[in-house]
Amino acid sequence: MTPTWPLPTIAFGGDYNPEQWDRSVWREDVALMQRAGVTLVTVGVFSWARLEPEPGRFELDWLREVLDLLHAGGIAVDLATPTASPPPWLGALHPETLPVTSDGVRLTWGSRNQFSPSSPVYRERALAVTRAVAQAFADHPAVVMWHVGNELGQVDHSDVAAHAFRRWLTERYGSVEALNEAWATAVWSQGYRSWEEVQPPRTAPYHRNPAQALDFRRFTSDELRALYREQKAVIREHDAQRPVTTNLMGFFALADYASWADDLDVVADDAYPDPADPRALTDAALTQDLVRSLRGGQPWLLMESATSGVGWRAHDLTKSPARSRLESLQAVAHGADAVCFFQWRQARSGPERFHSAMLPTAGPDTAVHAGVRRLGADLARLAPVVGTRSSAQVALLWDWPSWWAARGEAVPTDRLDPLDTLRAWHRPLWDARVAVDVVAPTGDLTGYRAVLAPALHLIDDEVAAHLRAYVAAGGTLVLGPFTGVVDASTHLHQGRTPALLGDVLGAGVQEHVPLPDGGIPARWDGSTFGPGEVLVHDFVGHAEALSPETEVLLALGPAQDLPGLEHLGGAAVVTRRGAAWLVAGVLPEGDLAAVLHRALADAGVTPPLLGAPAGVEVTRRGDALFVLNHTRAEVHLDIADLARALDLDPASALLTDLLTARQFTTTDTAVALAPQDVLVSMETR
Ligand code: GAL
Repeated sequence: MTPTWPLPTIAFGGDYNPEQWDRSVWREDVALMQRAGVTLVTVGVFSWARLEPEPGRFELDWLREVLDLLHAGGIAVDLATPTASPPPWLGALHPETLPVTSDGVRLTWGSRNQFSPSSPVYRERALAVTRAVAQAFADHPAVVMWHVGNELGQVDHSDVAAHAFRRWLTERYGSVEALNEAWATAVWSQGYRSWEEVQPPRTAPYHRNPAQALDFRRFTSDELRALYREQKAVIREHDAQRPVTTNLMGFFALADYASWADDLDVVADDAYPDPADPRALTDAALTQDLVRSLRGGQPWLLMESATSGVGWRAHDLTKSPARSRLESLQAVAHGADAVCFFQWRQARSGPERFHSAMLPTAGPDTAVHAGVRRLGADLARLAPVVGTRSSAQVALLWDWPSWWAARGEAVPTDRLDPLDTLRAWHRPLWDARVAVDVVAPTGDLTGYRAVLAPALHLIDDEVAAHLRAYVAAGGTLVLGPFTGVVDASTHLHQGRTPALLGDVLGAGVQEHVPLPDGGIPARWDGSTFGPGEVLVHDFVGHAEALSPETEVLLALGPAQDLPGLEHLGGAAVVTRRGAAWLVAGVLPEGDLAAVLHRALADAGVTPPLLGAPAGVEVTRRGDALFVLNHTRAEVHLDIADLARALDLDPASALLTDLLTARQFTTTDTAVALAPQDVLVSMETR
């Protein structure tokens, strides 16, 4: 049986660290949580040293007291295994549990996270404390879910890790010969005689083997997942019912979350968009779409966010309560069934003293806490959306191994980070209110009118066959620059790229070309786009049409316009063969938008509320339409548009805003939405 999400409302709360406070504060906390509408807190994340002050001696009574108090106050608990921060005694007694950097520096205690995921001793001790907690509290009525560790993200290059890496490689390759083949160790005399000679990619005199580096990334992700799985298994020995999760970090570079998704009963994510970044909330929407898509659209939990500053940025811009509310409701709009913060009460001591919280140091009578209470009330009104899903006509493909391979050492440019490319492709979709899912390249593509693969650097036979079948079935496919260049072992596919899809595109790239600052000119064909000139910047593939049906829509200027790069004169940059598009270079924002909007329009993608002003985000979740005003100005929304976006008859629809209970019909004038305000409209029931 799949455990299901237990709360009937959008959960609201945050991390609660009672071990940092006297008992006298706990009661006040519960009372204030109740007043703020808190329904869920995560407890015990960093409590290992309090729960097991000496090896094998557990002190659990204080935690029982906390759980009892919370339960009496009607607040549910997401109970953590405290394995993210081992007590000093573990490192002191077993230094081999401490992780080592690629430079050979052994990290120590005095902070947190000082463990090697591969250390058998760490794992044994982590399971022991997990067992103690699970055994003691599996039946506690406050506990509604489990939280394994915290932001699993450690990496280790020690001998302990080397041993585990060899085991992992043995399973993958079977023999040293096969490893030598996959890692192409003929290059630079790297051939291995035995497994004992194989190491993690430690600091070396010059560039390291890219296949080794990629496998170490895969291994690290698998090791972290193994920690999650084995702690979950111990929890399951004591509790067969409640959902188990761990808090992810969106587009986090050290873990391939697509491969973790099956192990999570519910996906949980931590999000700290930077208020200094003007595109932070557009990018946040993309992350939320990724997180929602990991388990096929199942509602997810915003496990951590900040009410204001975070204390860990060099110049830590704070945010207003209105902005915090907007961010929180954006997560709900993109499928979250929980909005939680780090943390409930602002720390008095330690490195997170200056991190914002739901209850600031200055107390409940503060602007930040007033915002928290307002948000609690808002979320309580959104119960009708709990459990509901959304659907998208467009899939953006995202692949961690492609990211890792393209970001390795000794690639043509460091200006082509796949994540930046993905974000650049997503922004015009967000601007046009096109709903997207973020899907793995082997994921189910049926039902999508268009599939965009902005940065699929690594393509193997399976992925190529999958994409080919998608296009053959009538789908629109748009591939980005530096795509389909390497195989699963980072070897270059031979021939023009993307070699495995050249027939589908009717086009291919013969050279990958980082560009001088300032870019180089290209010209639209003048029929589909333009006429006009475009400056391709940072990178272009030297592409050409390879089939008579292929149209070249954007081509580099003639040779005389390309001093030093004359051989690229007239090269194709954007091509199209039926519904298969190639965008082989980095285009200015507006030009990329034009291409993507055209490809989507031709694919029949129909976004809602086309008439709304820029900066107004619109997402549909179940029968609710979320309209989020990201601008600094009041905007006016046409009620007939809202009705249409909900598939209702604009002539007769009667709508309610769930947040204000305000009702409107299409005979009303347009509805006004204040800056940073949100409307959640549904048909009146
Ligand atoms: C997260 C972490 C929390 C807290 C927070 C501060 O990465 O899981 O424990 O440290 O950052 O922003």
